Amino acid sequence: MDSLQAILRGGFEDFRDFVNPLIYNRAELAREPVRLLQARDGHLVDEDGHPVEDLHGTQAFGHRHPYVTRAVRDFLESDAPNWFPSRVNPFAGRLARRLCERSGHYSSVYFGCSGADAVEASLKLCRAATRRPRLLCLERAYHGCTFGAVSLMHRGPFTEPFRPLLPGALCLPFGDADALSRALSEGDVAAVVVEPVQGEGGVRTLPDGYLAALCELTARHGALLVADEVQSGMGRSGYFLRSATWPRRPDVALLAKQLGGGLAPISAMLTTRELFARAYGADFEDGESHNMTMSYNALSCVAALASLDLLTEDLLGAVRDRGEAFRARCHQRLQGHALYRDTRAAGYMFGVELRQPEHPWVGFDQFGWPDLEDRATIGPLTAYRLYRRGWFAFVCGHDWSILRMQPRLTLEPEHLDRLITHLGEELDALAELV
Ligand SMILES: Cc1ncc(COP(=O)(O)O)c(C=O)c1O
Repeated sequence: MDSLQAILRGGFEDFRDFVNPLIYNRAELAREPVRLLQARDGHLVDEDGHPVEDLHGTQAFGHRHPYVTRAVRDFLESDAPNWFPSRVNPFAGRLARRLCERSGHYSSVYFGCSGADAVEASLKLCRAATRRPRLLCLERAYHGCTFGAVSLMHRGPFTEPFRPLLPGALCLPFGDADALSRALSEGDVAAVVVEPVQGEGGVRTLPDGYLAALCELTARHGALLVADEVQSGMGRSGYFLRSATWPRRPDVALLAKQLGGGLAPISAMLTTRELFARAYGADFEDGESHNMTMSYNALSCVAALASLDLLTEDLLGAVRDRGEAFRARCHQRLQGHALYRDTRAAGYMFGVELRQPEHPWVGFDQFGWPDLEDRATIGPLTAYRLYRRGWFAFVCGHDWSILRMQPRLTLEPEHLDRLITHLGEELDALAELV
């Protein structure tokens, strides 16, 4: 094998040439920090030695947290098997037990390798359990890129090249209980899949009144309720499961992203033994009719077990309090600014909604991309300016006017204050230009 240093020198261009030139070119054009060579004290370091704080939200405890790294290293240095041919994997068993106990409600777990395949598992579980065809989601949803998940995605570039989508899938207006009631009244809905806090849709928490209707109507009409907590769960929104605060626990809750401690891919579909038996309990063959070869691997389970240890109740409380303080301080700093609309926060899920300037030079058509004409440039422009201050911020996938920032949960208030200061200064500078 090449040395790690050789890979870090030449592998970025290999990615461009052999993986995806569009991702590489977009990152270069947007001047994202691409050549990141080190993970140090939870942040990343670029080739010039500059620190970069990653706000993407895949690293709940920072890059390569020593506790998770040590757990994985201890496992690799042991002689324990990673994969068990019977599929009866004790590491998956122990992780499932810990997830169920932590949830205070669920009793059965299915493991996958990505958020989208956890969504896929839930759709199949709900269809198999109810034998009903329809699957409902909400506008501006993001559930991942496999076919079932993409069929529940907000309509746009993620869906249109792939039509026809899964039959029976329908997107409902966000927060509209009447539309939900009408759709459920036909009695043919297997599942309603929602994000407790829409991430790519703009950091939008489901309103309380809608939540009450959602919990009541799904129960009344025998439709199963799935909480996609791939983004909001594992502490990101200040709770292990945000849906634990709902009037009724959903039939299924999904975790992924941060579950593997940022080191290993793993996702989990949490449900009850009763529902699992209703869907798959008929005979042994049914029990394996949805499975993935590598989803029961010990390495990922070890990383997830270590992550659960780090996710203490004290940390969750701090994330809730500090997230709200960030929202208030950010709003206070930017209120009245020409380029600012609002700040939203759920724990450490931050969304800063910006105002697109009218200036004719700052449209995507001016940069040579007429196809992106209806997209906001203000989010990407602000993100670019934040890269130069050491913050790797993003825009929401479905709305580029909203800056999406999800720091590691251990980032202290003084760092969050620095982020507000830098954001304010960069927006001031941009306002001078446009
Ligand atoms: C709410 C939600 N569900 C599902 C997914 C898909 O997860 P993955 O990219 O791991 O397939 C994402 C990814 O961002 C997400 O935010």
